[in-house]
Amino acid sequence: MSYYKIDNLEQYFKHYNKSIREPRKFWGKIASENFTWYQEWEKVMEFDMAEAKIKWFIDAKVNIVKNCIDRHLARRGTKTAIIFEPNDPNEEALHISYNELHERVSKMANVLREQGIQKGDRVCIYLPMIPELAVSVLACARIGAIHSVVFAGFSSSAVATRINDSECKMVITSDGGYRGNKTIDLKGIVDEALEKCPCVEQVLVVKRTNTAIKMMEGRDQWLQPLLDDASDNNVAEIMDAEDPLFILYTSGSTGKPKGMVHTTAGYMVYSAYTFKNVFNYEENDIFWCTADIGWITGHSYILYGPLLNGATTIIFEGVPSYPDFSRFWEIIEKHKVTQFYTAPTAIRALAKENLEFVQKYPLASLKVIGSVGEPINEEAWHWYNDHVGGKRCPVVDTWWQTETGGIMISPIPFVTPTKPTYASLPLPGIQPVLMDEKRNEIEGNQVTGSLCIKFPWPGIARTIWGDHKRYKETYFSTFPGKYFTGDGALRDEVGYYRITGRIDDVVIVSGHNLGTAPIEDAINEHPAVAESAIVGFPHDIKGNALYGFVILKESGEYRDRENLSKEINQHVSDHIGPIAKLDKIQFVTGLPKTRSGKIMRRILRKIAEGDYSNFGDISTLLNPEIVEEIKKGKL
Ligand code: PRX
Repeated sequence: MSYYKIDNLEQYFKHYNKSIREPRKFWGKIASENFTWYQEWEKVMEFDMAEAKIKWFIDAKVNIVKNCIDRHLARRGTKTAIIFEPNDPNEEALHISYNELHERVSKMANVLREQGIQKGDRVCIYLPMIPELAVSVLACARIGAIHSVVFAGFSSSAVATRINDSECKMVITSDGGYRGNKTIDLKGIVDEALEKCPCVEQVLVVKRTNTAIKMMEGRDQWLQPLLDDASDNNVAEIMDAEDPLFILYTSGSTGKPKGMVHTTAGYMVYSAYTFKNVFNYEENDIFWCTADIGWITGHSYILYGPLLNGATTIIFEGVPSYPDFSRFWEIIEKHKVTQFYTAPTAIRALAKENLEFVQKYPLASLKVIGSVGEPINEEAWHWYNDHVGGKRCPVVDTWWQTETGGIMISPIPFVTPTKPTYASLPLPGIQPVLMDEKRNEIEGNQVTGSLCIKFPWPGIARTIWGDHKRYKETYFSTFPGKYFTGDGALRDEVGYYRITGRIDDVVIVSGHNLGTAPIEDAINEHPAVAESAIVGFPHDIKGNALYGFVILKESGEYRDRENLSKEINQHVSDHIGPIAKLDKIQFVTGLPKTRSGKIMRRILRKIAEGDYSNFGDISTLLNPEIVEEIKKGKL
């Protein structure tokens, strides 16, 4: 009996129970039957939750790219691996077969080696959504270099922080990128970042927009001539199961971003398994995930998950609103997409537009539609189900995180009955628990609590780059012995989970995780600002937007508030990126603080939401009178 595919509800429970009773046998069998290994493991897993040490497929040897590409060549060489849909609908889409992908990745891998990149070196990839992004990621993995993809919407200073944190030796970027009717100067951003990054020795530049750019002698090279000279014969590196595959940064509630480290074999098994089941993947499907490869969703479900299954995956360079709001639907129709995976923020933005944009297209090819990144509200769920899925495609509301590597809680289409706004049941191998404030597990149903996972799964991130202590403290200390997700959840009467949102100081804006602390740091660097506090508040399209409370220094008191707000947002944009801009900035003379000096964000959150009903006990505040003042000035 194979455990790789779940066909009905009875089988789901059977597999689930097996995965809990005998996790080693369960994952060992999946790993052994569905991948190619140079050498299999000595032991399926070992873990010590207290020390946050987790290992899977111990001592096994493998190369993930051999599994993504090479092993498919005999049967699927001429099959399309990647469809590239350019930003401009008049530019022709590109179909890259598995054979061609093999050739391109092999050449790129040789270029990287010739340029001195070796196993274990970190390479930062800062590219738009073009085929070279996929090729670069896969070429790194092929030679064992650790890729650190940075989303091409981040500012130079955010890029610099990430490059320095993991000491990247090389950056792969492009002369520019297209997004809707804008052209983004990616190379300029990299140049600025690299002024602060002594570790970077080389920059390879992809030509995409033909923008005139500066090339620094001895550091920068155009990629194409190097590829033209490279051989397409490349021997993949033999990797240990636990060798790092990539680093991907995610915001924390405090301090600098966390470089989550995913390792090779566990991530491979988990991303492939979840892709297969959550999307009901079958051989001739055309899969489209609209995320950017700069986020975990793109890593796992544009690249690794689909390619490991020999699927056809779409890379879309543009945005849903260009040239008009029917772009997504037009692409689904054009490529006969069978699975469509997007974020609630995109659904809400498109639902706001005229229905004709979507009704123009029958979308009959669709089989499964998915949602990820934040809670999907009931209205958006129904709009998606009715107008995109035509009420015949199961909506998979998939809950997971950068840290989890793959989907954790989700309906399995055609197996698990769906319920709007519920991510529903855990996938096999995943043991969610809800915890109360006293750190006890909450039994039974119809309860809410802090969502933890009590047993390791293959895809869990193994550490934070360079800071295992922070990894242990962030994820394994709040509820000792368990992985703490940072999310709150509700379990209904039949055991379905509904994620209610973050319970730490992370705000999800348009599906992007933003820590409030780094934004506050950026604001506080403005010369007129003394102190600030950021909270999230509900927003129709973005899910949440940011509300900032700012105390000015005396010098700032005389300045024009509107200009100051603009400057503050510019600071945020420069330090983090435009995604972190604040929707509202209220200038205040003080912030509600406890006697130990901690800002009571709970109160600020309520004010930002316009909910003045119950502030709870504010008598412990050092300055309770400030609450009234802030309420009066609310924007
Ligand atoms: O709060 C949860 C929310 O997104 C967080 C993880 O963000 P990130 O690491 O950027 O990964 C996003 C893509 C996997 C979670 O802690 N989240 C993600 N999916 C859902 C969700 N909240 C509710 N429902 C979901 N389906």
